[in-house]
Amino acid sequence: MLNKVDDLLKEVESFNGTTLEETENFRIKMLGKKGLITELMGEFRNVPNEQKKEFGQKINVLKTAALDKVNSLKEALEDAADESGPKIDTTRPAEFTELGSRHPLSVVRKEILDIFGRIGFAVSEGPEIEDDFHNFTALNFPPEHPARDMQDTFFIDDEIALRTHTSSVQVRVMENSTPPIRTVSPGRVFRNEAISARAHCIFHQVEGLYIDKGVSFADLKQTLLYFAQEMFGDKTEIRLRPSYFPFTEPSAEVDVSCLICSGKGCNVCKNTGFLEIMGCGMVDPNVLENCGIDSTVYSGFAFGMGIERITMLKYQVNDLRHFFENDLRFLNQFKSAY
Ligand code: PHE
Repeated sequence: MLNKVDDLLKEVESFNGTTLEETENFRIKMLGKKGLITELMGEFRNVPNEQKKEFGQKINVLKTAALDKVNSLKEALEDAADESGPKIDTTRPAEFTELGSRHPLSVVRKEILDIFGRIGFAVSEGPEIEDDFHNFTALNFPPEHPARDMQDTFFIDDEIALRTHTSSVQVRVMENSTPPIRTVSPGRVFRNEAISARAHCIFHQVEGLYIDKGVSFADLKQTLLYFAQEMFGDKTEIRLRPSYFPFTEPSAEVDVSCLICSGKGCNVCKNTGFLEIMGCGMVDPNVLENCGIDSTVYSGFAFGMGIERITMLKYQVNDLRHFFENDLRFLNQFKSAY
């Protein structure tokens, strides 16, 4: 029995674990509940009386030696691990968290509103289901007027339709406030058109309205130039071409110098050097009167643009349908836009 204790002591002394795991296994083998030393201590009552004292002392020495050995090995191994760097592996690639992104139309809508916000235009919104008065009549489209056909309308009944433009919101603003009025109206509009790369039955507009004493065409032009340069860069030029809208007189289409070739001519601008971005004009006095504003005192200008069109020009999107299909391969390209 005493020899067994001596053998174990030798084993403890010569043990030299090189890993924490090996050392822990050794501890279990010696000092665990079913370990060799524990087992030997259980033999104590079988030891002849005259050897009991010596056996007891030796077992104590063995136990202390085993404990010391295990503890010092563990400490040394843990220190070595600490010295070789932190336990967190900072070189491991971080876990990737998928972030959402704004829809490109929301990005551009915000940008348009911000640009006009900086020169004092407030945002106004109104219903998508509109009555004939706000969408047409107040805007100088008399019943049976052929201009009603310019915008193919989804009618709900004789009086109610899905709005074809957000000019209807401006009618509501004019009815409910007194000049000066500076407002931009973003929103969804509806036209009964076949869906293609260039047209859709649903799209988005921002229309603007400015009414005060002495507002002139020069104010309109300068406002549009400011917008075009904020939106497309400060080298951008604008060009106004005479046009017709029932609610403005005179009316114009607004072009910007081509973003690709800067006016030299390319296939995006079809060699014209310019791209059409919106309609505009001086508010027709009839419209002011229809909305309760004295046209002998006040004048104003209005403009309207499609958000899809601006987005397509700004980001070189060549098919309008991309905006409505929620294809992640398309949407993910706008992740860095705010
Ligand atoms: N309402 C017109 C449209 O939807 C745009 C426009 C607005 C034109 C204001 C002139 C002035 O096409």
